[in-house]
Amino acid sequence: MRNNFTAVPKLIDSGDIGPHGNTGYWRFCCNIRYDCWGNGYATEAAQAMMDYARKAFGVTHFCASHAEPNLASGRVIAKCGLEFVRYGIWSKLDGSCKMRSMEYERVEV
Ligand SMILES: CC(C)(COP(=O)(O)OP(=O)(O)OC[C@H]1O[C@@H](n2cnc3c(N)ncnc32)[C@H](O)[C@@H]1OP(=O)(O)O)[C@@H](O)C(=O)NCCC(=O)NCCS
Repeated sequence: MRNNFTAVPKLIDSGDIGPHGNTGYWRFCCNIRYDCWGNGYATEAAQAMMDYARKAFGVTHFCASHAEPNLASGRVIAKCGLEFVRYGIWSKLDGSCKMRSMEYERVEV
């Protein structure tokens, strides 16, 4: 019997952007499937989310962060035009692991 699902596209990433509490900044994040790393997808996705936020909501203040050892994330954030502003604390959702984070911001005038 023919499999009608062979052409179904595979999901390669997830991400989000939205207001960061009441700071006035919008925060974004993305995750790329491991076997798809290194193709520019995270940068493309992050820039697309920022463009959408600008056009649909007039956002001018962006922020993002990553666990300090995750240098690829820092590079993606830098390629989106954000600059390092301070260290913070990164924590797994279940609290089982904490480490220093690097926090970035971009303000467009
Ligand atoms: C971080 C992550 C999103 C990057 O996705 P990606 O699609 O591979 O990213 P891109 O290809 O757009 O860019 C990666 C950049 O990091 C660089 N890079 C990769 N590994 C690196 C390392 N160990 N040290 C420094 N830079 C590194 C790449 O060279 C590239 O920069 P370049 O274009 O200047 O060469 C992906 O690794 C991931 O999903 N990680 C797990 C989840 C995570 O940490 N998410 C981030 C939280 S916001």
